[in-house]
Amino acid sequence: MDLFTPFQLGPYSLPNRLVMGPMTRSRTGPGNVPTALTATYYAQRASAGLIVTEATHISPQGAMSMTSSGIHTPDQTAGWRRVTAAVHEAGGRIFLQLWHVGRISHTSIQPDGALPVAPSAVAARCEKKTASGEMRPLPTPRALDIDEIPGVIDQYRRAAANARAAGFDGVEIHAANGFLIDQFLRDGSNHRTDRYGGSAENRARFLLEVTEAVAKVWGGERVGLHLSPTTNFNDMFDSDPAHTLGVAADGLNEFGLAYLHLVEGVPGSPMAPAEGMARLAPMLRKMFRGALILNGGYARASANAAIAAGQADLISFAVNFLANPDLPERLRRDAPLNAPDRATFYIGGAKGYTDYPTLEQMTTSARPNSD
Ligand SMILES: Cc1cc2nc3c(=O)[nH]c(=O)nc-3n(C[C@H](O)[C@H](O)[C@H](O)COP(=O)(O)O)c2cc1C
Repeated sequence: MDLFTPFQLGPYSLPNRLVMGPMTRSRTGPGNVPTALTATYYAQRASAGLIVTEATHISPQGAMSMTSSGIHTPDQTAGWRRVTAAVHEAGGRIFLQLWHVGRISHTSIQPDGALPVAPSAVAARCEKKTASGEMRPLPTPRALDIDEIPGVIDQYRRAAANARAAGFDGVEIHAANGFLIDQFLRDGSNHRTDRYGGSAENRARFLLEVTEAVAKVWGGERVGLHLSPTTNFNDMFDSDPAHTLGVAADGLNEFGLAYLHLVEGVPGSPMAPAEGMARLAPMLRKMFRGALILNGGYARASANAAIAAGQADLISFAVNFLANPDLPERLRRDAPLNAPDRATFYIGGAKGYTDYPTLEQMTTSARPNSD
């Protein structure tokens, strides 16, 4: 078994086990609407077993930047419909990543200049861009009142319904990388004393309620979940990640989810477990009943080895998919990869987005003219 062994993911027969990992690309049009260029970008990568889109905010309150895509207005839903149609036309499958950033936002981005919301009034000690593009420390967020939480869960439910209307094959709930759900889950950012804070059972409640709401819209077999319990990205910390995640995985099994997408990078990669943290993938592999996607710094050999050893069912590649629209073909042939151009990761336009060549385009342009 390797990356090229087909896989049955819920109702979908995937031709390979390469997942295109979610990547914010900051290239939306007015109103945070995906454009025709977005459709081209994803369609170019349709040979992935599964594409997971860029993180897409579920409400204005859930946004981190002025240029990320949304899924809460009719125009955004229509923009995404164009993307899903292009991917399906090219033979691919695509899940939308549902995103609420919680405390990782500036007042300049929030509706009416309000403070961003979070489980507790604890600031993430990092800098992000304001609406006008300067890097500034994040503000101390406002703790959500317990009466507001059903409303936030409803934002997820409505966004999930919009994703259905937009023709996606499923959704991935973004519970990783220090955003809202992760802020509830880990005790470094959740200091609540009500039923959403304190014990791991209480901290996992928000995650499980969101998952239940989204699974009701889609059916669990078309819902995935993204987690990163061992990284400290966005100033995250938990005093006992194994216990917290054990409780969460136990609760999640109830929903018959398609997959758990775990960011736990290979040693030495940026998303590797923070210093002193044990890897949780082996434990989650045993506990979680759905498929397991591993992510973080994987290359051809390490991905094939993880699949062959049964450590994962699928592997997601982010940066390498960004730079190689035909990544499955390149890995199949063990061909060289295009290098990613980091300067164009988050700027607008086609450069560094839709202009990375496929192997075939490279060989055609290198062939001498026979006339
Ligand atoms: C340009 C860029 C944008 C990213 N945006 C997201 C995102 O929107 N959602 C997410 O969950 N992870 C995001 N990530 C993290 C990747 O999905 C992935 O976890 C990380 O790049 C490690 O995987 P890799 O070594 O295969 O690149 C982003 C990474 C990059 C490089």
